[in-house]
Parts: sequence; structure tokens; C-alpha cells
Amino acid sequence: MTSIITSKYTTQMRIAELIEYNYNLLLLFPRFGLELGVGESSVAEQCIRQGVSPELFVMMCNIYTFADYMPTTSELKQLDIEQLLNYLSRSHKYYIDSRIKPIEQQLKSITGHCSLSHSAVLQRFFSEYEQEVIHHFTYEETTVFPYIRTLMARKEKQAEYDIDIFKNNHSNIDDKLSDLKNILVKHLRGIGMAAETTELLFQIFSLEEDLSRHTFIEDVVLIPMVQQLEQRIYEHK
Ligand SMILES: [Fe+2]
Ligand SMILES: [Fe+2]
Repeated sequence: MTSIITSKYTTQMRIAELIEYNYNLLLLFPRFGLELGVGESSVAEQCIRQGVSPELFVMMCNIYTFADYMPTTSELKQLDIEQLLNYLSRSHKYYIDSRIKPIEQQLKSITGHCSLSHSAVLQRFFSEYEQEVIHHFTYEETTVFPYIRTLMARKEKQAEYDIDIFKNNHSNIDDKLSDLKNILVKHLRGIGMAAETTELLFQIFSLEEDLSRHTFIEDVVLIPMVQQLEQRIYEHK
């Protein structure tokens, strides 16, 4: 991270300034459907122009920049759950299509130069990882998000599910990448692919960091927001 700012971002800051502080925030733009060409616009101006919640965007920028940032209850109350769900769904697609598939391709070209046993281990390992991630995202897309949308629409609790079931079973999807990094860093030698392996490792480190933020968002933004919604529904019963 390139951040030299110490206090959290606000919706009144210039969007170009945020990117200057932390260029990794550029990765958030396609997930929000935000275009560049931001001129001197503030976060609020640019987001409103493009139909994005400025509060949600700035919270994601804070989460991706400050390791100790924790959203407050009043910040959570300003957010729109539907916009958050759209952001998370776009992120899922982005991780599979734009990060995991390219890593798989890079890994294939490297394993073409490895011993057969290393090649088989690495390829099997990554394909199991990919399946695990797809399974994780599919559960959220087909069980958790529809549950939340029904809760918002009907304003009534459903007997068979609540958000604590998700909370208690929500796992980290970045852990397994550590094992892959270890194999690449510690055990691959003499294959003449140093530049390609280094590039691959950068991609894996970056994906790991990004996925850990994604899980954090679901744990400390999505789940508390849905708990508040469930609570309000209980109180009106
Ligand atoms: Fe997710
Ligand atoms: Fe998740």
C-alpha cells in the first residue's frame, strides 16, 4: 500500500486524491461499475453521478487502506444493503474471471517446466482451491443473498434460516493460498522460470490480501447489517 494518510477517507475528499494515496483502490472501480475520468470530483459527486452510494464506496476504500479500520454502528446504518449485495456479487465474478483464471493460466505455463510430480501437486492443489472458492461464492449467491433479499422484501423472519447460520459457518477463503505460496517459494528450483514464478507469486499475494478484505466486509459490514434488520423485524412482531 502507498498510503501516507493516517485518518480515514471521507466522501468530501477528491477521488483522484484517494487513488494517489492508495493505488490499490483502482481495483474497486469495476466492482462498483465506476468509470475513471474523475477530474477534480469529490467521492460524493462522482458516486452520485454514477448511481453508487458514496458512503458504501468510501467505507470500502477505508477497509482496503487502513488495517485497523472498523466501521461504526452509525456508519453501517447509512448503508444500502442492496448496493452492498451488488458490490459483493460483482466482486465474486471479478475474483473468478479476472484473478483466479489468469493465475490458473500462469500456473499452467510454469508447471509445464516442472517435474511431473511437482506439476501434478500444484495443478491438483489449485484446482481444488478454485472449486472451494466457487462453492463458497455459490453458497452466498444462492442461499445467503436470496435470504437477505426476501427478508428486506417481506419484512418477516423465515423459520428455516437466519444470518447467524452464515456467521457461524463463514470460512476464510484466503488461507489455502498460503500453502500454494509456500510450495512456490520453498520447493520449486532449477526450472528457469524465475520471472514468471515471481509474477505469479505477486498475483497470489495480492489475491490473498484482497480476499481477506472481502471476508472482512462480509463479517463486519454485511452480517451486522442483517442482524440489525432481523432485530427490527423481531421487535415489530
Ligand atoms: Fe463473498
Ligand atoms: Fe464469504
